[in-house]
Amino acid sequence: MDLTISVLKADVGSIGGHTKPSDRMMDAVRAAADRAIKDGLLIDAYVGHTGDDICITSTHTRGDNDERVHQFAWDSFIEATEIARQYGLYGAGQDLLVDAPSGNIRGAGPAVAEITFDHDPVKTNPLRPAESFFVLAADKCGPGAYNLPMFLGFADPMYCAGLMLPRLGDGFTFNIIDMDNTDGDSLISLNAPEDYYKITVLLRDNERFAIESIVSRYSGQTAAAISATRLHNIAGSYTGKDDPVAVVRNQGIFPAPEELISPYTKAHFIGGDARGSHVMPLMPVAINTAVTGMYCLPLVSCVGFSINGEGKFSESSTDFFDNPAWDYTRQLAQEKGIAMRSQGWSGAAMLPYGELEYSGFRQSIGDLVARFAIRANGHQPAEAEAMVTGDND
Ligand code: 13P
Ligand code: MG
Ligand code: MG
Repeated sequence: MDLTISVLKADVGSIGGHTKPSDRMMDAVRAAADRAIKDGLLIDAYVGHTGDDICITSTHTRGDNDERVHQFAWDSFIEATEIARQYGLYGAGQDLLVDAPSGNIRGAGPAVAEITFDHDPVKTNPLRPAESFFVLAADKCGPGAYNLPMFLGFADPMYCAGLMLPRLGDGFTFNIIDMDNTDGDSLISLNAPEDYYKITVLLRDNERFAIESIVSRYSGQTAAAISATRLHNIAGSYTGKDDPVAVVRNQGIFPAPEELISPYTKAHFIGGDARGSHVMPLMPVAINTAVTGMYCLPLVSCVGFSINGEGKFSESSTDFFDNPAWDYTRQLAQEKGIAMRSQGWSGAAMLPYGELEYSGFRQSIGDLVARFAIRANGHQPAEAEAMVTGDND
């Protein structure tokens, strides 16, 4: 069958600041997911939160961008918003940027990552005798938070020894979106390994370019899909950070989960954090962790699933970062965070002006920029030019 994994995420309110949703909100979304399973819309669903973002991971047979599946997620987020309002939570309905989405909810505020594939997990299936995948959810992050770890996991044998094996060795295609182009989805496809350097030229800019999907060149199968949009481009003003989600299929023709998560040991610096305006390291955490660190130390969770022949999840899931193996990285993230915070507002500690332009910081900077004046009798550009050309007599 054609099976779709849909990961749908929104921040619709949180307790005591941008920390976590309430239990009541989580219960409401879980109950809505159970109803959708009972009604036959979904085959299975898992609901968790990372910081203040509620994330629904679901399976169904309706394909990507399905209106009914997206509407179910929207309605669930509306229900949670109403609870957030009732109990006075902060930022109720924060990511629901339109009154009602038309068709699917892409571009309406929530983050969406989906993959549809032929699902036939039998021993004789040469490509996918078993379906294994994980979902990443990051909070207090810009849209390109996964650029570095995804690239390393799918293109660098230093992180993924599997790339030295025959099938994986054919490499992967990186579909990269230019999020500054608001005319439409502006994409480029680059192939690893031969476009290795070109891919890094783009991915170094986490605020403008983000990986949207990664495809196996051996099989043509999609390995990963990432929600890559810039909330501020949709909202026109700062409403919250993008907090991307990703669905990543693994094992067999794809890298193994242990390879794909190894770059997260870096606790690499990313944009987002407090007021969506700073640079802090990404800390791997268990699912259902609140954001309580200084300057909203950004978090990423990673939950693994298997899917049986009917599209149902394994009885339980694997919480990759809920393990003492990651304690050292959490310590590292905290140390890197303290080091970065020690320089406060200076230089690399805050995002550049271009990224701040949609937030309240823009007004503060704009008001000052408007007050600058050219010094009377000072250096004049025309004179300078004349001196360079020697035409000054
Ligand atoms: P969220 O995007 O997670 O709501 O965070 C917003 C923020 O500005 C925190 O300081
Ligand atoms: Mg929030
Ligand atoms: Mg959030």
